[in-house]
Amino acid sequence: MPNALPAAIDRLRALPKAEVHAHLEGCFDPGLLEQWASQAGTPMPRPREHLFEFEGLADFLHFLDWACSLASTRERLAELSYGYSQRLADAGAGYADVIVNPTHWPAWRARLPDMVDAIDAGLRAAEQDGLPPVGLCVSVLRTQSSDAAAELVDTLVALRHPRVVALSIDGNEAAAGRTGPRFADAFRRAGAAGLRRTVHAGESSGPEGVRDAITLLGADRIDHGVRAIEDPELVALLVDRQIPLGICPTSNLKLGVYARIEDHPIDRLRRAGVAVSINTDDPVLLGASLVDEYALCAKVFGWSDDDLRALARNSVDASFANAEIKARLIHALARW
Ligand code: ADE
Ligand code: ZN
Repeated sequence: MPNALPAAIDRLRALPKAEVHAHLEGCFDPGLLEQWASQAGTPMPRPREHLFEFEGLADFLHFLDWACSLASTRERLAELSYGYSQRLADAGAGYADVIVNPTHWPAWRARLPDMVDAIDAGLRAAEQDGLPPVGLCVSVLRTQSSDAAAELVDTLVALRHPRVVALSIDGNEAAAGRTGPRFADAFRRAGAAGLRRTVHAGESSGPEGVRDAITLLGADRIDHGVRAIEDPELVALLVDRQIPLGICPTSNLKLGVYARIEDHPIDRLRRAGVAVSINTDDPVLLGASLVDEYALCAKVFGWSDDDLRALARNSVDASFANAEIKARLIHALARW
């Protein structure tokens, strides 16, 4: 974070917090991708220095398909998952929900149980090494069919894997159009089976996407949701129902939702009473670190320590962590 003093960064690192909006697909190290591409005889889409330059969400999602296709073994998937937990520890986070979308990973097609098992192996190893626990949110892609979503829910419900905490939906709403009705049944069945529900909306859709996430998909949490700011009645609904938004400021800048951090609505949403939290979305690919996101917003919006504590508290409350983990983090927050 430019201009933040090292002591201020250290204090933000020490702030007890959770991350509730990050994708495993966004955690690839560029050197590792180059090495795997060379081993596979697969050309790089562009030189390494420009590998993580994207023209917007559609281009970014296309890149994910390329990067994830290289993570073809159990060891690579476990290593990536372990690495994410290490990042959390480095940021002073005590828990995270991480999203994985099987459609990006061709090597694991029709092998979701094996995929979850490989990720779980990496996350278990991380916990055994004292790194933070991570829950898994398995994602539908917006451009999939209702049958594909139904099949994913059937598989997750039959699997009942303790690592899987939620059904998620991500991808490009601008390309998919209005899809809330298409996925309503899958999300209803997931909720009835005890899965939590987290929904990307209000990034590549406007406020109408956020409204559908609430009314049609039963969202317990909304990923991004920032464009809700365009509809005051919707903001009132988010406040009234206390539906949290997992906001990722740098992602919104890099993928072109807002041109300048000063234009970002996170502070206006917070002041309106929406339960906003700060997150990295695709940390390595978009160059976002959790501590720097807090530092950037604190500087631009003039947040006090009490504001920062309240934001961190939102992240813990919005997470799908168990009661024991939440209680530990809330206790630590009171002493920050
Ligand atoms: N998948 C990974 N990052 C995403 C984002 N920012 N929006 C939608 N889908 C995604
Ligand atoms: Zn996201």
